[in-house]
Amino acid sequence: MSNLRTLISAGEIQRRVAELGAEIARDYPGGPVYLICILKGACFFLADLARAMQTPSRIDFIGISSYGSGRTTSGEVKLTKDLDGSIEGHDVLVVEDIVDSGVTLHYLVQVLAQRRPKSLRVVTLLDKPERRQREVDVHYVGFRIPDQFVVGYGLDFAEDYRNLRDVCVLED
Ligand code: IMP
Ligand code: MG
Repeated sequence: MSNLRTLISAGEIQRRVAELGAEIARDYPGGPVYLICILKGACFFLADLARAMQTPSRIDFIGISSYGSGRTTSGEVKLTKDLDGSIEGHDVLVVEDIVDSGVTLHYLVQVLAQRRPKSLRVVTLLDKPERRQREVDVHYVGFRIPDQFVVGYGLDFAEDYRNLRDVCVLED
């Protein structure tokens, strides 16, 4: 049986997202910022972050998978859904739920950089730096967390638990 233990409460998440939104708005005063949401885990974070940013933004979605249904990366990355629009000449901010090995983002940043955005940065709600295999430049980090498997606020285990309001550690 799996057990859920709250690691970051809904209130803490909302306070931090508000801070990140204010920081990002200061960095891109004119906008528009192209927010690229990595499906599916980042969708709740995107929705809250976009509304916390007092700067014009546009949103688009990209699907990428490196995991299957296990808890550790397969090391294989594939694009499952591409962006609807062009990012050429735009300020792009990739919105991710969690950076773990870094394999997914490393790949995605390379793909997006080839499309010649004006600027390209990454914001992640969670960062597990202990497990990094690939170097990735992450400009905005919500919370650094220890090497534990977490679910909730968009994050899943085999598609379950995404709609929890808190980020919880899944213990077995
Ligand atoms: P990476 O390529 O290893 O950095 O993995 C990134 C992706 O793996 C994230 O976007 C998540 O979808 C998934 N992932 C990594 N760690 C966790 C976790 O603790 N809980 C749920 N999903 C995770
Ligand atoms: Mg993800």
